[in-house]
Amino acid sequence: MKIVSSKEKSETHSELCVTNNTAKMAEAAILGFLQNNESIPDSGKFAAELNLDHEEIKNVIKSLQGFRYIEAKELKRETLVLTDEGKKYAAEGSPEFHFFSTVPEEGSISKDDLEKKLEASVFKIGSTQAAKKKWVAMGKQVSRKVQHVEDKVKESLLQIQQGLELDQESLNSLKARKLIVTQGWTGYSDVKKGPCYAPKRKIFATDLTRENLQNWKELEFKEYNFNAKGQPLDAGHLHPLLKVRKQFKDIFCQMGFEEMPTNNFVESSFWNFDALFQPQQHPARDSHDTFFLKAPSTTRELPEDYVERVKQVHESGGYGSRGYNYDWKREEANKNLLRTHTTAVSSRMLYALAKGPFTPKKYFSIDRVFRNEAVDRTHLAEFHQIEGLICDRGLTLGDLIGVLQAFFSRLGMPKLRFKPAYNPYTEPSMEIFSYHEGLEKWVEIGNSGMFRPEMLQPMGLPEDVRVIAWGLSLERPTMILYGIDNIRDLFGHKVDLDLIKRNPICRVGIE
Ligand code: PHE
Repeated sequence: MKIVSSKEKSETHSELCVTNNTAKMAEAAILGFLQNNESIPDSGKFAAELNLDHEEIKNVIKSLQGFRYIEAKELKRETLVLTDEGKKYAAEGSPEFHFFSTVPEEGSISKDDLEKKLEASVFKIGSTQAAKKKWVAMGKQVSRKVQHVEDKVKESLLQIQQGLELDQESLNSLKARKLIVTQGWTGYSDVKKGPCYAPKRKIFATDLTRENLQNWKELEFKEYNFNAKGQPLDAGHLHPLLKVRKQFKDIFCQMGFEEMPTNNFVESSFWNFDALFQPQQHPARDSHDTFFLKAPSTTRELPEDYVERVKQVHESGGYGSRGYNYDWKREEANKNLLRTHTTAVSSRMLYALAKGPFTPKKYFSIDRVFRNEAVDRTHLAEFHQIEGLICDRGLTLGDLIGVLQAFFSRLGMPKLRFKPAYNPYTEPSMEIFSYHEGLEKWVEIGNSGMFRPEMLQPMGLPEDVRVIAWGLSLERPTMILYGIDNIRDLFGHKVDLDLIKRNPICRVGIE
C-alpha cells in the first residue's frame, strides 16, 4: 500500500484503464458484442470483420481478462503472409506475365528490344519464368509459344491475401520464389463473459490518495492482489572482491586470527622496506616498481631508537647476522610511498607487539596495495593482498606448513606443495602451490616464510619468538571463483555494474 500524490494518481490510472480512442472502440466492440452473443470464436476474424486493428483487440482482451470482465483462450497458428516482392506482384502482376504481354502476338521481338521495354528485374525474372513455363521461345529473337496465358501467380497471391486456402503445389512454388512466408500468429479464441462482466468497464480507485479517501463512499476500490510481486528494491550490492574477502575473513576468524588495521595506503619506506630488512638498493625500491609520493614526500616521524637499530642491522648486522655492509640513509627511509604490500602493516603490528610483555598473536589483513606495473589482462597497478601471520615462541617451518595446510584446506585446496623462494624479510621462504583439479596442474597461490631475526630482534621481540607468515592476492581466487579472465572486468572503470548487481553469493571450501 502506498500513498500517492494526485499527479501520480492520474499516471497510475492511465496504466489500468483504456485511454486512447481506438482502444476505447475495441473495448466497446468486445463488451458490446458479448452482451448479445455467447462468444467471439476468433479474435482475428472479429478484428477483420469490424475493421479494427487486431493488435489493439488483443491488448484490450488481455486487459479485460485481467480484470475478469471476460475469459479467453490463447490461440496460436501459422499464417501465410506476402513478402514485399509478393505484395508487388499481387498488385501489379507477375514479371513473367509482363514479359509475355510485351512479346508481340505474331512474329517476334529481339531480346535487346525487349530488355529496353521492361524494368531490369521484370526482364530478368520474367524471361526465366516465362521460358520455364514454356510461354515463349527464347533466342536472339523472342516469340510466343502460346496465344493466351493466365497470371496464376498474381491470382494465388491475391487468394492468400484474402486468407483463402491454396493447393500445396502453388504454395511450394510461391515459397520457393520467396513471395510468401509463414508467420506465427497469436490471438484469442472462445472469448466469453467473465465473472465480473459488465457492458462498460468501471474505473476502480487504486490508490489511497487524499481525494480518494475523502470520496470513499462513491468510489469502488480495486481489490488488493496479495500475490503481486513488489517493485525490485534498489539496494547496494557487494562487489565480488568483497564477497570473497568475507569468505577469507571468516576462515581467519574461525582459526582465531585478529584483523590488523590497514587503513593507511600511504606508508613510509621505513615500514614498507627498511623495517623488513629490505636493503635500500633493492630493485623493488625503484620508482619503476613503487609509487612514491610527491607531497608530502617524506614521513614526519619514526621511532628513533628503533630506527637506529634497523640502521645498525642493515649496515653491520647483529643478532648473529653480518648485515648488508652499506651506508644506510635516513632520507631513503623517510620517503613516502603507496604501500607495496600489506607486510608493511605486519611490521608495524609486530613492532607494537614487541613493546609490551610478549603475548602470542595470530593476525591477518586483507586490503589494497600498489605497484607501478604495466597494466594487462592479469595485472593492475593496485590489487588486494591477504596476509596472515602467527607470532609465538619456538615456531618452526613445520608449524608454517601445518597452518598453511589447515588454511588452504578450509578454502577447498587441500593438496599443497612448497617451493623454496626468496624474500628479503623471510628465511626460509616458500612459494605455495595448489593442485588445480580443473586445470589438472599445480598453480602458484601464494608466498610465505619465517620472518628473519634481522627483522624481529631490532623490534625488541624476545630471542625465541618466531613469526610465520604468508600472503596471497584476493583478485586471483576471485577471478577463478567468478570465472572472470580479464582483471579489468573485475576492477576499475570498465566494470559492468550489472555484473556486480547480479553475481551470486560466494561460498568457498568446506562449510
Ligand atoms: N609480502 C609478500 C608479497 O608481497 C607476501 C609475503 C607475506 C611473503 C608474508 C612472506 C611472508 O608477495
